[in-house]
Amino acid sequence: MDKELLQLSIDKLVYGGYGLSFYGGKTYFVRYAAPKELIKAEILKEKKDYNEATVREIVLPSESRREPPCRYYGFCGGCQLQHIEYESQLRAKEEILVESLRRIGKIKDINLLDTIPSPNEFNYRVRVQFKVGGKKLGFFGWDNTEVVDISECPILHPRLNEMIPKLKEMIKEVNDIREIHLLYSPFRDEYLCKIVTTTSLNKNDLLRLKDNYLGNKVVGVGNYSRMRHGLNRRSSVGRDHTYIKVGEYTFRVSNDSFLQANYHLWNNMINTVVDNISFKKALDLHCGIGFFTLPLAKRGHFIEGSDVNAKSISDADYNKTLNGIDNVSFTRASAYNQLKSRLGEIIDLVILDPPRSGLDNGEIELLSSLKPESIIYISCNPSTLARDLGALIRGGYRLISTRLIDLFPQSYHIESINILELTK
Ligand SMILES: C[S@@+](CC[C@H](N)C(=O)[O-])C[C@H]1O[C@@H](n2cnc3c(N)ncnc32)[C@H](O)[C@@H]1O
Repeated sequence: MDKELLQLSIDKLVYGGYGLSFYGGKTYFVRYAAPKELIKAEILKEKKDYNEATVREIVLPSESRREPPCRYYGFCGGCQLQHIEYESQLRAKEEILVESLRRIGKIKDINLLDTIPSPNEFNYRVRVQFKVGGKKLGFFGWDNTEVVDISECPILHPRLNEMIPKLKEMIKEVNDIREIHLLYSPFRDEYLCKIVTTTSLNKNDLLRLKDNYLGNKVVGVGNYSRMRHGLNRRSSVGRDHTYIKVGEYTFRVSNDSFLQANYHLWNNMINTVVDNISFKKALDLHCGIGFFTLPLAKRGHFIEGSDVNAKSISDADYNKTLNGIDNVSFTRASAYNQLKSRLGEIIDLVILDPPRSGLDNGEIELLSSLKPESIIYISCNPSTLARDLGALIRGGYRLISTRLIDLFPQSYHIESINILELTK
């Protein structure tokens, strides 16, 4: 029997990529909806406070609605906004960012600078994490349960798409593979690969997989287990790292280090962060490979980068020498421990670029005691950003500007660069 459909009017998009609607005293979060349209939806999940639904028929389409270019769209959960024109994706993200700052952060004065769009709305990712389920390789559907098998993905760099047939052959042989991560360097035209399995692969296994399936453009392969808090490396063969070039800087990046995924925006992102900055002493508390730390070093007397990831710190140290920059040092430390060890010192600038979870209360308290004159907060999650900025503002900071930089076209993720200054 056909499922009953509910006619809903979509007000706007909200974080997560859902269309928002109100009907019969209940809030509806609707998948694949566009702002200002009338649709018929099927209810997928009924909760106490809200229902989740998906579009089944479009009654009056939004002006921003378009045919999604990807043939897997609607099954694959990797993208949520492909059915919306790119300009409108940007406007919707701006609205969500400002609304989060107002509602969660209770921030009144928001100076939203012009958004930096991605120069290419497709083929922008140089990093990918494929999920594997049986003989299927692709991404989870919206509910994160089943792997949707794909043979190409339009947001990936074409060289990543070229690897898919080889990976599909490989998973036929090793049926224990759960995930395959690839990082492609457009600078070196080479890849690094992580294979996540439940049982161990030794070096000989990895060499065989590299020779038989991956090919010699894959310069390093590691075998990993998935732990609660991330991946744990068991073995590896080949080179552990590759190199990328961003403007005048060359960075070594290891298989286990973080790298910003949208390569079209690397240069612009760095320039936006370092623009108009000067300082005597700065801390970059989530420095990764030194992506912002090294360009920032040219704008001040001394900057200290720190990160919990030992591999990133070893890359950052190497990159310091590679780029001939000496007014910088790198330490492996959590943001909390680094802030604690610098209390009492005069630090005039702090850079924050935390993971999606944002900062914790201890880090906010230490920042409020350290009182740097300026803070640059780079965020990939408007909800945790709004929470943290709210707390920093209560601790004596003013939000000078917020700028969205669209690292993630077609997906709901929102990256922003926020500048704060001390008022007290
Ligand atoms: C979004 S990445 C940014 C890295 C770098 N700024 C870049 O743009 O390449 C976040 C970084 O925070 C690091 N990290 C995660 N938790 C941390 C913590 N509690 N303290 C310090 N660094 C942390 C991760 O290892 C990762 O390198």
